[in-house]
Amino acid sequence: MSGHQTLRQFLLAEHKQGKMSQDMVLLMEDIATSCRIIAHKVRNGAFLDILGATETSNVQGETQKQLDVIADEVFQEHCANCSRVAALVSEEIDEVIWLKDAPKAGDYLVYYDPLDGSSNLNVNLSVGSIFSVVELQEDITEKSNEAVLIKGAKQICAGYSLYGPSTSLVLTTGHGVNGFTHKIGNGEFLLTFPDMRLGAETQEFAINASRARKWDPVITRYVEECLDGKDGPRGKTFNMRWVASMVAEVHRILMRGGVFLYPKDAGNAAAGGKLRLLYEANPMGFIMEQAGGKASTGHGRILDVQPTGHHQRISVILGTAAEVDLIDSYYRDA
Ligand code: AHG
Ligand code: MN
Ligand code: MN
Ligand code: MN
Repeated sequence: MSGHQTLRQFLLAEHKQGKMSQDMVLLMEDIATSCRIIAHKVRNGAFLDILGATETSNVQGETQKQLDVIADEVFQEHCANCSRVAALVSEEIDEVIWLKDAPKAGDYLVYYDPLDGSSNLNVNLSVGSIFSVVELQEDITEKSNEAVLIKGAKQICAGYSLYGPSTSLVLTTGHGVNGFTHKIGNGEFLLTFPDMRLGAETQEFAINASRARKWDPVITRYVEECLDGKDGPRGKTFNMRWVASMVAEVHRILMRGGVFLYPKDAGNAAAGGKLRLLYEANPMGFIMEQAGGKASTGHGRILDVQPTGHHQRISVILGTAAEVDLIDSYYRDA
């Protein structure tokens, strides 16, 4: 015995306390299995010659990596096990995938980014998977793409798996955030980081600075003030980090604080931003809030945004609450 609770023990305890349904326990185990399989494929990618690109593009206009497609297939196969799952929404699939004939209120929708940060694959840096679950709010008569456009505030479960030096699984069901590590040897996810919380303050920010010439004045002001150091308006020195993998940035912020920005800017405004609302911004926003942080578009809480498209993109500012509040206040003043 390692002394750590297994994922199954944790899920069953949550179920016993009324914090998640039995179906959610099954779905979470299927998602954890997907992540274990994807981690294995990522780690063996060079031998299987699957680290490179395909000849296809996804609906976002991105060239798909072979592992984007493979990871999507793994999620599709395993999330279909739970009979309460009505539909899947994947970054890599144009249309909503309906799994039930007559979806009912209370059935699950699973939104996922099967492989996040996939530009890091061929340089052996961290990648991950992101997932979010909501219940259908009403019985569905027409299985349209519009039927899955539900606010992030309705999420009942969200999380991610990080394929880094070790494989982490971090999740929330609306009762705090808990982090598990995949143990090599017995193959279990064990609860290694219970009740993850963000501190009140930070001196670290994350933004792709190569886009600086496209930023709006608020983002420019915020970053310049961070860079001004001790003698500037912030009165302290800031450090900067950018992994180009949202899962890795969010995990670092959960572990030691910080703020992550992928704002709408002059280069991506036509699309609404870069990151996707349903399977990137909402799940990470839910995790942040449950850990005591915040997630905003700069003009309000991400989780309150009414989605208008299932691949909709959005401006994302998340992390330590005081920093997100400060940026929001700069937008109000602008
Ligand atoms: P994905 O690989 O799922 O398409 O997501 C990539 C996202 C996100 O992980 C990361 O924060 C961001 O794109 C990186 O963008 P830049 O290439 O502009 O750094
Ligand atoms: Mn992509
Ligand atoms: Mn992504
Ligand atoms: Mn992806």
